[in-house]
Amino acid sequence: MTRCDRTQAWAALQGHFEAHGRDFDLREAFARDASRFDAMSVEAPEVFADLSKNLVDTATLHFLLDLAAECGVATRRDAMLRGDPINTTEGRAVLHTALRAPAGEGPFTGDVHRVLDAMLAYVETVRDTAASGIRHIVNIGIGGSDLGPQMVVPALDAFTHPGLQMHFVSNVDGHDIAPVLRQLNPAETLFIIASKTFTTQETMANAHAAKAWFEANGGTDTAKHFVATTTNIDAAAKFGITTTFGFWDWVGGRYSLWSAIGLPIALAIGADHFRALLGGAHAMDEHFAQAPAAKNLPMLLGLIDVWYRNFHRFTSRCMAPYHQGLKRLPAYLQQLEMESNGKRVDLAGDALPFATSPVVWGEPGTNGQHAYFQMLHQGTDVIPVEFILVKKTTHGSGNDNPLLAQLDKQHTMLLANGLAQSQALMQGKTTEQAQAEKAPTASQALDALTLARHRTFPGNRPSTTLMLYQLTPRSLGALIALYEHRVFTSGALWNINSFDQWGVELGKALCNDLLPRLDSGDASGLDASTAGLMKRLRA
Ligand code: F6P
Repeated sequence: MTRCDRTQAWAALQGHFEAHGRDFDLREAFARDASRFDAMSVEAPEVFADLSKNLVDTATLHFLLDLAAECGVATRRDAMLRGDPINTTEGRAVLHTALRAPAGEGPFTGDVHRVLDAMLAYVETVRDTAASGIRHIVNIGIGGSDLGPQMVVPALDAFTHPGLQMHFVSNVDGHDIAPVLRQLNPAETLFIIASKTFTTQETMANAHAAKAWFEANGGTDTAKHFVATTTNIDAAAKFGITTTFGFWDWVGGRYSLWSAIGLPIALAIGADHFRALLGGAHAMDEHFAQAPAAKNLPMLLGLIDVWYRNFHRFTSRCMAPYHQGLKRLPAYLQQLEMESNGKRVDLAGDALPFATSPVVWGEPGTNGQHAYFQMLHQGTDVIPVEFILVKKTTHGSGNDNPLLAQLDKQHTMLLANGLAQSQALMQGKTTEQAQAEKAPTASQALDALTLARHRTFPGNRPSTTLMLYQLTPRSLGALIALYEHRVFTSGALWNINSFDQWGVELGKALCNDLLPRLDSGDASGLDASTAGLMKRLRA
């Protein structure tokens, strides 16, 4: 692998940025080239992508594709898919793709399908609620052992079991688990203790809280009401859990929803839909593995991310899923992208002279429009926005039912809003246009030009629009895999390890040091701020 800044393509991109990139104007680009939309849209499994509202032209894409070739992205991709230990600092393979390969295909297929089949058989026994008596499922996990299921379950609401209520507890803060426990009774509750390591402080603490509540409320059959999903089966057994679904060290936490960590998803949507989720992801894996770079959607998105981060120096990306079911997608992507690519040294351990992961943030549309879109349109920073539009609803539609007829109208409103926002970001509004318009709510005391300046939009603000036909297990699987491979691509260009997370270690270690001090009051050796804050907390 060659680090991006050491390639000829990087130098060419730098020259291209100075000459054409910095002042690139989207409105002029569309005026110049009537075929821009067709030329810059890409069809991938389940996902159509309009890249044409990005600050790129054919030459930019050409140089970016050269960059991918010179950096050896395809070679590193193939090494990942083969199971080479590309997570070098932990000496591990990175094989979440193996979890969604059909039986008989891909590395470790025997192990993968043995656990998958056992898990899905178990799922059907719990989903038979008349026999199982289970009505509530509580997933206790954090980070990758929480965010994937917590994002997918509401996204697939239309496919979920109506008699099972899903709950997610992650925070060590008792305010998370306490209100959940208040809704439960032991006989109807299944707790899933989800932890790759089965040592994570927050998860273990909440698992103990759940067990204490279960026993205090007359629960007896721990084997029936507690299940673990972990690579550390011995630790789960020591905790007293006998039903365990395992996975392997080559599944990274933030890439684990396809493994046993997906148990809450499978319980919510059932075995067939869970297999469809895996199938959608596998289709995207094949696209990533086989499509030529110029039509390879994860690669193109990863390349544009690097163009924006390292040349335009944009610091964040706003995610705007126009589907309420995707309300947790931004949080999920924060871990996927920022834990993977928030790194400051390359594979050799050398400090990087360029920026890596952007901040990823957002909310579903249209809610974000009434909060921070003001800044996206008129603030001083340019923030690329990623719109996700879903053509067809899953809440039903029809003219004979007044509610569904109204919801159909609302869906059209939702889509119109999403389209309008990307259009407005690009088009902007000149001061002359603003001056020519009436602004009924504006102050009469201001002169027209001053007012028009406040009502001017610079425009030329970039966005990508991803479009799904419908949010189904299959399309959601493909969408998530698209993001995984896009993060892989930018990480490979930066030549960093996207699969470790040493940055979370220091805080954990210091917490272990402070924990007994909060009880004892021992402030010896602490900095003055920490000692002072601790004293106030104990006063
Ligand atoms: O703190 C970071 C982290 O290690 C994540 O990478 C991981 O997803 C999360 O903690 C939970 O870890 P575990 O599944 O081992 O409890």
